[in-house]
Amino acid sequence: MKVLITGGAGFIGSHLSEALLARGHEVTVLDNLSTGRLENIAALESHPKFHLVIGDILNEFLVDKLVERADWVFHLAAAVGVDLIVKDPLRSLMTNIKGSEIVLENVYRYHRKVLITSTSEIYGKNKNGPLKEEDDRILGSPLKSRWSYSTSKAVDEILAYVYWREKKVPTVIVRLFNTVGPRQTGHYGMVIPRFVEQALQGKDITVYGAGTQTRCFVYVKDVAEAMIRLMENQDAVGQVFNIGNGEEEISIKDLAERIIGMTASPSRIVYVPYDEAYEEGFEDMQRRVPDTSKAARYIGFKPTVNLDGILEMVISEFRKSLAPAQESVSL
Ligand SMILES: NC(=O)c1ccc[n+]([C@@H]2O[C@H](COP(=O)([O-])OP(=O)(O)OC[C@H]3O[C@@H](n4cnc5c(N)ncnc54)[C@H](O)[C@@H]3O)[C@@H](O)[C@H]2O)c1
Repeated sequence: MKVLITGGAGFIGSHLSEALLARGHEVTVLDNLSTGRLENIAALESHPKFHLVIGDILNEFLVDKLVERADWVFHLAAAVGVDLIVKDPLRSLMTNIKGSEIVLENVYRYHRKVLITSTSEIYGKNKNGPLKEEDDRILGSPLKSRWSYSTSKAVDEILAYVYWREKKVPTVIVRLFNTVGPRQTGHYGMVIPRFVEQALQGKDITVYGAGTQTRCFVYVKDVAEAMIRLMENQDAVGQVFNIGNGEEEISIKDLAERIIGMTASPSRIVYVPYDEAYEEGFEDMQRRVPDTSKAARYIGFKPTVNLDGILEMVISEFRKSLAPAQESVSL
């Protein structure tokens, strides 16, 4: 297959590129490097079946040409996470809504197959758990930019679903729950890399809110594998799937303590009110646990690495990247 990955220089996209190349597919990445990094794909650049195009999904001409040349499209490019959307709302919304519309329109024009990457943020404040694909979305006011990420991804899902229903474009939607592992950076608020970096530098670990909110973390390579298997599965077309690890739920406070223990760090935990961390009146989700039984039924999805295993990998990666800085401090 010739595969186009939008956002392929990002955290998940780079692991997906590797997994597709390992299966013998030809991979073209389209990325504007806004949050993606060349170092994520540095090891792939000499691969004969890997191509990188630096450009924007809002460039309709470019997307048209690249979709025409592809068989499959994995659409990952997005302004990712609540932090980014709160800080840069207009550009983020354009990327997530208009960008997806451009990708879908071209997939329709050339009769291609597409996988759309949505998020567990879709469920908003729904505290129930484990959450099933058809569960309700519970959101706050649209005037709070915090909810825009959720809404922009919901629009993407609706567009993808309608293109399937009305125009028979083969679309598959995945709702990713907190995906973690090597190459994720803490720069855009992602909790595990942020805590690990703080712990290894002996800085205060900043927990937003009371730290009682719970999350589940899934290993990025399990996510990449699930995305490919869903694209391979004809029955998955026109459907949405939760992908996450519902087996290990942990509060953010316990996560901070676990990271302090695993890194033997002298760091203290400091609680930062949401208003300070994000914006006034910020509301968080108290709980986010996936029900992944549908993905298990369709593709035999089962997470292969538990939280400790993921943390070990992330800590080891950060130890290596921080080592020169720490050595120079001690000189
Ligand atoms: N990481 C998670 O836990 C998680 C959870 C739910 C959903 N997702 C979704 O998975 C996808 C990948 O997320 P990620 O964690 O790898 O984040 P990431 O920021 O590492 O990846 C996004 C990539 O898209 C690129 N990009 C952004 N705007 C672009 C544009 N206009 N044109 C071209 N490229 C652009 C970025 O440079 C980056 O490489 C996103 O759609 C995100 O919403 C991620």
